[in-house]
Amino acid sequence: MRKEDIDQVNEIDREAFPTEWPQANYKHELQNRLAHYIVACDEERTAGKPEVRNSPEKGFLGLASKMRQLFNYRFVTNELPQPSEEYIIGFTGFWFMADEAHITNIAVRELYRRQGIGELLLISAIDLATELNARIITLEVRASNTTAQNLYRKYGFIQAGLRRGYYIDNREDAVLMTAENITSASFQAHLQRLKQAHSRKRGIALYQIAR
Ligand SMILES: CC(C)(COP(=O)(O)OP(=O)(O)OC[C@H]1O[C@@H](n2cnc3c(N)ncnc32)[C@H](O)[C@@H]1OP(=O)(O)O)[C@@H](O)C(=O)NCCC(=O)NCCS
Repeated sequence: MRKEDIDQVNEIDREAFPTEWPQANYKHELQNRLAHYIVACDEERTAGKPEVRNSPEKGFLGLASKMRQLFNYRFVTNELPQPSEEYIIGFTGFWFMADEAHITNIAVRELYRRQGIGELLLISAIDLATELNARIITLEVRASNTTAQNLYRKYGFIQAGLRRGYYIDNREDAVLMTAENITSASFQAHLQRLKQAHSRKRGIALYQIAR
């Protein structure tokens, strides 16, 4: 994620988490040395221009496959960033501390859901966390958000606890989920199988990460 991406990331955040308060401050996150964010872009579409996709399948084939991540922009200038030309369709981020990657957010534009983008983002986050030598990945998810819980379970996360009344907007409980020993042979073998299945199903090379 770059500072040029922030407007679109905010837009996706507002669409995905309309009642979240406080809203995540992604501008601040770019200066957070612990934070790592990844965005997925639709290469067939340019930000601010009409959509050219004919069908989800066709769109997906040309898409995606572009993931970009940022390792903490530490130098922020006063000049106003130009909005990104690329059309961002989803993003995820985590904070990396000691041996733990804590996923702060993952979201996909509504029109692009159920096409494997959430998976692509989660795979990218797991791969990056592995590269950084994380041992464990943690996250909180609303108790009612079974969609996201399904995604995490598919990738080997299990429920590790419950934080009662964690979300301040409606006092909803948070389910604490973790994937432990992510560098273990068994976790990595499971991940490889899922990557291959994802790639076969979606008909694209898994993804590329531009750094
Ligand atoms: C959660 C989210 C990121 C998933 O993104 P997505 O691109 O639609 O998900 P994918 O198409 O990659 O699906 C991957 C897996 O997620 C689960 N999943 C996704 N959509 C689902 C749905 N509507 N119902 C049940 N499970 C679902 C399934 O396990 C699916 O695997 P499958 O295709 O083998 O069934 C997306 O729904 C979203 O942005 N939601 C709003 C933001 C949010 O709740 N983020 C999580 C915060 S903790």
